[in-house]
Amino acid sequence: MQLLKEKIEQEGKVLSEKVLKVDTFLNHQIDPKLMVEIGKEFARLFREENITKVVTIESSGIAPAVMTALKLEVPVVFARKHQSLTLTENLYRSKVYSFTKQVSSEIAVSGDFVTADDHVLLIDDFLANGQAMLGLMDIVEQAGATIGGVGIVIEKGFQEGGAVIRDKGVRVESLAIIDNMSPDHITFQ
Ligand code: G4P
Ligand code: NA
Ligand code: NA
Repeated sequence: MQLLKEKIEQEGKVLSEKVLKVDTFLNHQIDPKLMVEIGKEFARLFREENITKVVTIESSGIAPAVMTALKLEVPVVFARKHQSLTLTENLYRSKVYSFTKQVSSEIAVSGDFVTADDHVLLIDDFLANGQAMLGLMDIVEQAGATIGGVGIVIEKGFQEGGAVIRDKGVRVESLAIIDNMSPDHITFQ
């Protein structure tokens, strides 16, 4: 997606050879017009899948997921990372290990909102090592739902997540895939 690549080139900050900061439009401040375009593109790519629900993880996946779900005219559900006061029953849970942060955490989705009748589109902001997406896929499978595809805003092609998910036979569409990056240059696939 050309518009997204230009935004990454203009505003992205390469913090190390593996970490890209995109706080100006995706991970802290959010650019709503860009999110609308991202949603349109994911909706176009997955239109024929007959998706019944978009599923993501809080917090940075929510903006692109909502715009996608708006276009597909389906609800969006976000997996929670923290225990909720009200969400305590009928939960599907999965453990996620973050290589970046070197900590394990748990994500949870209510069985009220993802069921065996659902054909799900999974959306996230970044695909790095793929552990978060594997956790989300685990939850969707526990619910008996099927996976129509995975939509990623920024895939870091030099990390293993893309291969891990695609090797499972799941269709992954990333709007920007970074082959390599340094403080003064980002190369897209
Ligand atoms: P993994 O699931 O692919 O193994 O991801 P990893 O543990 O490496 O990443 C943990 C968090 O860091 C995730 O967000 C992920 O989106 C984000 N992340 C990974 N690589 C990058 C990067 O290069 N740049 C940025 N900006 N983020 C990256 P999170 O902690 O769950 O946070 P959020 O969704 O609340 O923002
Ligand atoms: Na994320
Ligand atoms: Na993030």
